[in-house]
Amino acid sequence: MLSEVNNSLLPYNTFGFDVQGYELIKIENKEQLEKLYAEDFFKSPFRVISGGSNLLLTQNIQEPILLVRIPGIEKNQETDEYVCVEFGAGENWHQCVLYCVENEWYGIENMSLIPGCIGAAPIQNIGAYGTELKDVFESLKAFNIETGNIENFNLDQCQFGYRDSYFKHQGKGKYIITSVILRLSKIAKINTQYGDIQNTLNQKNILNPTIKDVSNAVIEIRKSKLPDPAILGNSGSFFKNPVIEKSLAEKIQSNHPDLKIFPASGSLVKIPAAWLIEKSGWKGHKRSHVGVHEKQALVLVHYGGGTGAEIQQLATEIQTDVANKFGVHLEFEVNIW
Ligand code: EPU
Repeated sequence: MLSEVNNSLLPYNTFGFDVQGYELIKIENKEQLEKLYAEDFFKSPFRVISGGSNLLLTQNIQEPILLVRIPGIEKNQETDEYVCVEFGAGENWHQCVLYCVENEWYGIENMSLIPGCIGAAPIQNIGAYGTELKDVFESLKAFNIETGNIENFNLDQCQFGYRDSYFKHQGKGKYIITSVILRLSKIAKINTQYGDIQNTLNQKNILNPTIKDVSNAVIEIRKSKLPDPAILGNSGSFFKNPVIEKSLAEKIQSNHPDLKIFPASGSLVKIPAAWLIEKSGWKGHKRSHVGVHEKQALVLVHYGGGTGAEIQQLATEIQTDVANKFGVHLEFEVNIW
């Protein structure tokens, strides 16, 4: 087990904030977790970093940090119709998508190029372009820090919702996800319903898209709208799309006919946070070190030399302004430390 002391957390957060982490412990297998358990490590406060792509660091971190880097890609069940593949929590999500695309295993190609690692994917039920993790989820394994045992979680136990799961509520802080098993289809199932995918394929005159065509289209769309964290610090969508009463959405729409309303459950609907932020005048807003991305209003960016507190300040101002203008509360999607 590799343990480093007094390290910059710069390489471990896609916003690119240079705060100090006093102890970093790299976890590459479950035996290391068991050893830490035997040493009573989990009785004191600690933190976990996976890909660091949904994390806003606003201060130095005093508690030890576990960097989950458990590798592995293993097929553990296969029929003529589907394959179940177990991915180690530390595997890079996009590399796993490409692996599935190469093998023509259908189900996660619409989630190409999402930053981060496999282990974080179920925590917020990642999603993009008409697909969510829960649509292909079979089960996961997680280390229970109270008992020291590995537990299996099936689909129901994970309680997935929109950018939400059991691990953000009752399970928060109690488990370390060690692997995720996805059930992928061997029978071609292409989902190009999401507007931009079909348009991108049409522009290329691709009438019968392959899994690779869909993955490439998603990569192209994401690259055209979302900043590359290697070039411009960011953590993807900073806010969740708000789920509100239909009556409120329709009231807003009566003044703004361009507002898109998507069904949620019961009397609730989902509206784009990016639209609310753009209509409030924040899209492309720039201040000295941070700002709002000019091509996607949901994405806050760090130009360099700034602090996480500056992003937090900007996010709070946007939250207040949108609440004042539209009566809608925007919730942060990103974790703030
Ligand atoms: N819109 C604006 N202004 C903008 C951008 C979008 O008004 O600057 C409006 C448009 O009406 C557009 C609608 O918002 O039709 C939806 O925009 P988009 O398709 O870009 O998706 P999103 O709802 O803003 C969500 C996810 C993204 C994911 C995309 C594509 C959340 C919080 N975000 O964004 O996920 O890539 O859909 O499926 O659900 C992430 O979570 O980090 C992330 C990037």
